[in-house]
Amino acid sequence: MSSQSISIPAGNIPSSNLGPIKRVRVREHVNPLGQRYQSATQPPDWEAVYADWSKPLSLDIGCGRGEYILQMAQLKPDWNWLGLEIREPLVHSAIAAQRSLNLHNLHYIFCNANTSLAGLLPRHKIQQLTIQFPDPWFKRRQHKRRVVQPQLVQDLSALLVPGAQVLLQSDILMVAQEMLKHFEADPRFVNLAGRGQFADRDIYPEHIPTDREAWTLQQGGNIYRVLLKFAAFSNQ
Ligand SMILES: C[S@@+](CC[C@H](N)C(=O)[O-])C[C@H]1O[C@@H](n2cnc3c(N)ncnc32)[C@H](O)[C@@H]1O
Repeated sequence: MSSQSISIPAGNIPSSNLGPIKRVRVREHVNPLGQRYQSATQPPDWEAVYADWSKPLSLDIGCGRGEYILQMAQLKPDWNWLGLEIREPLVHSAIAAQRSLNLHNLHYIFCNANTSLAGLLPRHKIQQLTIQFPDPWFKRRQHKRRVVQPQLVQDLSALLVPGAQVLLQSDILMVAQEMLKHFEADPRFVNLAGRGQFADRDIYPEHIPTDREAWTLQQGGNIYRVLLKFAAFSNQ
């Protein structure tokens, strides 16, 4: 793995993933195809948002309460961390926590990733991408609400740095398989476990569990993980 890899030594992982983010009441799900979420969120002035915009950027799509990147931003201050989230109150409380901790390598944006991502960041900017426990939308007619769609993968391919690492997780097998299918449809996304395979502990980096991940582990549930490398060319 490259020197830009952000795997964390197990000893550095906090035993609790509770943080200073205030818990706010929110709807369990919002429909990303709803009228309110169709206009693209415009990018902020990135140079003003981050203390040093030249640091490698790690993007977390569907960051929920934002606890995962709040912790990562403190553990890995040499990276910038960005969370996208469609439930607006969660973004407000995450930004309040970021400000209270005076973290200048962390930001959150309220947006629909499906409609906003393409215009949000400069090309070849994202060094690491995480999509963790996306909403499953179980009913067949609602699958189109799932965040990982072919268009999202295409948008990402323009924004990722060649060599970038992509981490995907779900506790729902069908959702994990679908994410994998959409990413592997583009041969530039090379599955480090082998095509069609989920990653096991040997290759999946040590990491801080997200809220949903911690809950799943507590329930004794399965987690399906995918680790991909974005190659510049399909033959790499
Ligand atoms: C099940 S939660 C998982 C949150 C967090 N990643 C975790 O692992 O604990 C999925 C999150 O994705 C957000 N989300 C769903 N569709 C989205 C979209 N199109 N754009 C941005 N966020 C989205 C949801 O609001 C929700 O907070």
